[in-house]
Amino acid sequence: MAGRLAGKVALITGAGRGIGEATARAFAREGAVVAIAELDKRSGAAVADSLGGLFVRCDVSDSAAATAAVDAVCARYGRLDVLVNNAGINVFHEPLATTEAEWRRCFAVDLDGAWLMAKAALPAMLDGGGGAIVNIASSHAFSIIPGCFPYPVAKHGLLGLTRALGIEYAARNIRVNAIAPGYIETQIAVDYWNTFPDPAAERQRTYDLHPPKRIGRPEEVAMTAVFLASEEAPFINAACIVIDGGRSVLYHD
Ligand SMILES: NC(=O)c1ccc[n+]([C@@H]2O[C@H](COP(=O)([O-])OP(=O)(O)OC[C@H]3O[C@@H](n4cnc5c(N)ncnc54)[C@H](O)[C@@H]3O)[C@@H](O)[C@H]2O)c1
Repeated sequence: MAGRLAGKVALITGAGRGIGEATARAFAREGAVVAIAELDKRSGAAVADSLGGLFVRCDVSDSAAATAAVDAVCARYGRLDVLVNNAGINVFHEPLATTEAEWRRCFAVDLDGAWLMAKAALPAMLDGGGGAIVNIASSHAFSIIPGCFPYPVAKHGLLGLTRALGIEYAARNIRVNAIAPGYIETQIAVDYWNTFPDPAAERQRTYDLHPPKRIGRPEEVAMTAVFLASEEAPFINAACIVIDGGRSVLYHD
């Protein structure tokens, strides 16, 4: 099948829904063979089945599970070209109200998970002559919103991981980049608006915070992941693309 990712084998974490699902669908549309490593068996298997891809149940924070997921992809397809570290969880607290368990779970999924998957995937990519890793970070990798602790600390770390691995393996044809989405319209956003007496008004209030008067769509993050994973971005490495409609540039007085 022709496409911008034709011939590539891609492993996408957390692709049972949201940004990961949109990314899996975009990759498949562009001709990639798609494998999904997801904690939720039902949604992960459903998306993988619909794309004719491989589903591996996997908690990315478990190093054995991460290795097993990469091994399953290599056993099925013989190679691994792209890893999208998308699985992530929101852990939002006031710092002193954050338990040690919440801190550890946030880092285990949002930062350790990306490293464990990369650590498992890199040998296969190096064996195959190269590859691309795309880490889904966040606007929280640059900015701090009070009460959202420790998620931004982990996302800042994910940016550090992106840069460290990007530099380390650049001469061996591996590119490691990040995407920093701002507010994206996923089920979590809809559920959040629905907690307000007037969900439509709250939705509009969120839209109005953004210069384009709307928020982002999962497909818009997915298209950027396609670009970074493709041969259209051969000299983009250790970089981060912000997708926030310009909100982070907007001056507030
Ligand atoms: N939605 C946004 O507005 C937004 C903005 C910036 C960044 N992000 C980031 O984008 C990524 C995806 O976000 P989303 O909104 O689509 O999330 P989501 O909650 O809709 O989907 C996340 C998926 O990851 C899976 N998952 C969770 N923990 C896992 C684990 N330990 N191992 C494997 N899979 C696991 C879940 O089952 C789920 O299917 C996350 O890293 C998130 O931090 C999202």
